[in-house]
Amino acid sequence: MISYRSPQVGPKATELIRRDRKVMLGADTRSSEIPLVVERAKGMWVEDPDGRRYLDFGAGYAVCATGHCHPQVVEAINEQANRLLHIGGSDFYYRPEIELAERLVRLTPGSFPKRVYFANSGAESLEAAFKLSRYYTRRPKVISFLGAFHGRTYVGMSLSGSKKVQRAGFSPLIPEVIHLPYPYCYRCPLHLSYPSCKGSRQFEGIPLLPCVEYLTDTVFERLTDPEEVSAIFVETIQGEGGYIVPPPEFHPLLQAISKKYEIILVADEIQCGMGRTGKPFAIEHWGVAPDVICIAKALASGLPLGAVVARAELMDSEVDPRAWKKGAHGSTFGGNPVSCAAANQTIKLLEEGLVENAAQVGGYLKEKLKGIMGRHRIVGDVRGKGLMLAFELVRDKESKEMFPRQVTSEGKGIVQVFVGSSFKKGLILFGCGFNSIRLSPPLVVSRREADLALEVIEEVLVEIEAQL
Ligand SMILES: Cc1ncc(COP(=O)(O)O)c(C=O)c1O
Repeated sequence: MISYRSPQVGPKATELIRRDRKVMLGADTRSSEIPLVVERAKGMWVEDPDGRRYLDFGAGYAVCATGHCHPQVVEAINEQANRLLHIGGSDFYYRPEIELAERLVRLTPGSFPKRVYFANSGAESLEAAFKLSRYYTRRPKVISFLGAFHGRTYVGMSLSGSKKVQRAGFSPLIPEVIHLPYPYCYRCPLHLSYPSCKGSRQFEGIPLLPCVEYLTDTVFERLTDPEEVSAIFVETIQGEGGYIVPPPEFHPLLQAISKKYEIILVADEIQCGMGRTGKPFAIEHWGVAPDVICIAKALASGLPLGAVVARAELMDSEVDPRAWKKGAHGSTFGGNPVSCAAANQTIKLLEEGLVENAAQVGGYLKEKLKGIMGRHRIVGDVRGKGLMLAFELVRDKESKEMFPRQVTSEGKGIVQVFVGSSFKKGLILFGCGFNSIRLSPPLVVSRREADLALEVIEEVLVEIEAQL
């Protein structure tokens, strides 16, 4: 057993937490290991009401890409707030929304004509993409993946396959969602290993991975004709599922299958998009242009905004009569002018250097984490792209044996111990997947701040290993 005590907070923070508990829902995912009350935040740093400062390597779950309260984003928000707060993008026109749609059409992969729908969140974007695919194809079934997280609405929940607690008690979910194994190669769900798992078979000239073969040979033979499938929903890199980066063949294979059977390929880039991986959209690492991209989180640097960018024929009935007709979908708040102004400024900052910084500092961090993996027996895997990085904690590196669910006498798991210990040392980290720790800092992070985080990570590893 590891000896460990959950972090304490100062008196003002304690009082606020007490008040919160009396009025807020109990279904939140706050953890006793990061009892953080935030009074203010700037750049990479957040401060609690008692004046304690923390280095933020979570960015509010990969949202604050431009850092907390970036002055240019705040200025854009203030400027827009003085001009127009709301009018309703479903019914009227306004400059920030049009400009943002133009930017997203240009920035997203694929040189084909596109159209944009604005929502308020990630889950709402998925909801729209789901309705769009069913409407356009009039096909009842969809494909998604084990380990996926797509949000908390009924569509998001039904597509997700990450943790059973997110679904338990809510059945019946949306029917006809078929979950496939995702190529989590470190712990292959088919117990194979990449690249030797590839046989001689190909699909449209691309080496067929056994996990994708499961779709072509099992699902399409035993469960459904591909002609009944409207869409494949896939996180380009799985987020909540463990920051899992699929092999090079994976997305091209999904694209080839989608193309062959006229299935709509929907990339969920809600967590991995907007420059986090060192390219504007993660799917560009695979050279794929999906039919639909769902975006949210970092899009407006912290203001609520989601977007669905789709091939024009799916969303514009002047281009294709099967597309959404007038009135088929909409939102009161989606594309709020202030959120759009924040997003326009966010994209400018990303293009002016933050995407590049994500690639540079992310590459540096990954190398350093690999060094840490070499020095520590409980770090089994380091993975990710750009500033979407994770390392997986294992009890035994050789066998990849996992830690038991509880590693302390109070019943804490290894991830709780890790993030709690880091928090006590002033570093905010989150867990993901099976016993993995994710690093998703704002894209403004410097090498110096990366070094500070790495120091804490290594200190925590030394402390935990000393007790094993
Ligand atoms: C990949 C992915 N899709 C969808 C969502 C849902 O987004 P939201 O919480 O904004 O509804 C999330 C949230 O974490 C996510 O990571």
